[in-house]
Amino acid sequence: MQKVKKAVIPAAGLGTRFLPITKAVPKPMLSVLDKPTIQYITEELDSVGIEEIIIVVSPGSDVIQKHFGPAEELEKRLLSDGKKKLYDIERETQKYNVKFVVQETANGLAGAILCAEKYVGNEPFVLLLGDELIYAEKGQKPCVKRLVEIFEKTGKSVIATIEVFGDDVSKYGNIGIKEEEDGVMTISRIVEKPSLSEALSNYAIIGRYVLSGEVMGMLKKLTPRNNELYLTDVLDELSERGDLLASSFSDTRYDVGDKFGYIKANVEFALKSAEIGEETKEYIKKLAEKL
Ligand code: G1P
Repeated sequence: MQKVKKAVIPAAGLGTRFLPITKAVPKPMLSVLDKPTIQYITEELDSVGIEEIIIVVSPGSDVIQKHFGPAEELEKRLLSDGKKKLYDIERETQKYNVKFVVQETANGLAGAILCAEKYVGNEPFVLLLGDELIYAEKGQKPCVKRLVEIFEKTGKSVIATIEVFGDDVSKYGNIGIKEEEDGVMTISRIVEKPSLSEALSNYAIIGRYVLSGEVMGMLKKLTPRNNELYLTDVLDELSERGDLLASSFSDTRYDVGDKFGYIKANVEFALKSAEIGEETKEYIKKLAEKL
């Protein structure tokens, strides 16, 4: 059984949909409640004991490194003011072994993953796309843990999938399913963002994957299409050989790369918050009466 010890988070998008905030603030630092989206993603890995996280950033994203780095003055201040709880919250950000690589030019998802090659080599890795938050309720097995368990049991790459309908089918990588057992599917084909008539099924790839050790080598051999390197091309090759699985999951997914998805995440995390959950609920109820 091969253990998964590495994780790659491509987070180099410019976030132009969120201008003007993304002019000076890198998109992964946009906050849901009081935490940047990138930290929610590193926290998803807490359940699987990853040893090294590689974050692929765009040039000028130093503030992300700062977020995961030391903060001596702030810590001294919090301790001397007796703010131990806030001190602990700050220390949490430093518990990850994070490496940063800069993607100089945007050349597709596969291009972003290849930036992490020097750290990943030919080891298996978890891939978490920075625009999605996957939230597991307490007691629920997190999506990433489920994927890692499937990989460690089968040795095959595995992707998370959800069902989508209507025009949404064309927004995602699309999966042709061969067989399904207990929510784990064998895959016949993958197509990237098909038109409705080209779609193989209603199953979409979402941004959580565990990829086997051979994938980095396969990515290196890709030829660009439309100036981009597509991870989907490698996934399709794996699926044709019977080496790719998909898994459904029951966590809640937020598309925080989209304005409405981002607002939904903020509202729902505020409702879950021990600090402001109750007052948020009362506020929303009152507001809803006026809508
Ligand atoms: C990428 C992948 C696509 C996948 C999607 C999930 O697309 O290429 O296969 O369905 O992430 O969010 P992007 O959203 O980066 O265009």
